[in-house]
Amino acid sequence: MKVLIATQKPFAAVAVEGIKSILEEAGHEVALLEKYPAQEDFVAAVADVEALIIRSDKVTPEVIAAAPKLKIVVRAGAGFDNVDLAAASAAGVVVMNTPGQNSNAVAELALGLMIFMARTQFTPATGSEIEGKRLGIQAFGNVGRLVGAKAKALGMKVSAIDPFLPDEKIIAGGAEPASSLEALYAGSDYLSIHIPATPETIGSIGYDLIASMPKGATLINTARKEVIDEAGLAKALRERPDLKYAADVAPDCYEALREEFGLRVFATPKKMGAQTSEANINAGLAAARQIVSFFATGDTRFQVNR
Ligand code: 3PG
Repeated sequence: MKVLIATQKPFAAVAVEGIKSILEEAGHEVALLEKYPAQEDFVAAVADVEALIIRSDKVTPEVIAAAPKLKIVVRAGAGFDNVDLAAASAAGVVVMNTPGQNSNAVAELALGLMIFMARTQFTPATGSEIEGKRLGIQAFGNVGRLVGAKAKALGMKVSAIDPFLPDEKIIAGGAEPASSLEALYAGSDYLSIHIPATPETIGSIGYDLIASMPKGATLINTARKEVIDEAGLAKALRERPDLKYAADVAPDCYEALREEFGLRVFATPKKMGAQTSEANINAGLAAARQIVSFFATGDTRFQVNR
């Protein structure tokens, strides 16, 4: 089978080598499309492929339509909001992710952003310490749990909420269950967001939640920019000169926010949460193994479009 690794933001070279050797040893042919300048280049590259490995690359209905032989798409990573699941399902294409494989990298970045903001973006201005501060974790999945464990080791007081987990699981993961999302925001000096972008979550974090945070609080978003209501964020930052916001991937209004609020806001220029060799190797090799297993035995574990 022909497998295309299509990564606008490439994997580390060592991960590409590993992916290739797993696929080639199983008898598959591998093609590579990296740093492509336009979506049309991606569309043009899928004509004869049976399988795709992607990162945040956009698998639109046009991509699906241009790939008549396509059987499987594996998103090497967690979030699959970049794949049009309806179009894939309609074409009989299996879509998978590789849950947990890049979580540690994202969790480390979330902690790094907290310290970066606490230390006024590494400027000489007097900062603060995160030890003893209250950390709220919104969604206690693979990333949220790791953020909690690392934050506890740094002396933070950790609370969490997750609509899909009973309190016992949150306690077992080492965090205090919050009684509601409102209570979590109102009681957190740092709030780390780990929800996916879905129709229910897009724009769901707005003025009311952000402005309810305690004095000096910082909101950290290593999830998706779309979950933030940007007008609400700007209003809260305007009314509350003590609040801060840091994100992995800039909000659409980042330039305006930066101009108005200076060092109280920060965003990475390109999503870099999962951009470590380790995460690339973990997620990329898992994707390759899932494809081998799918074609060898019909294994559809990790399918997200059932
Ligand atoms: C994910 O959903 O796994 C992360 O956001 C990583 O995305 P990336 O592979 O584009 O860096």
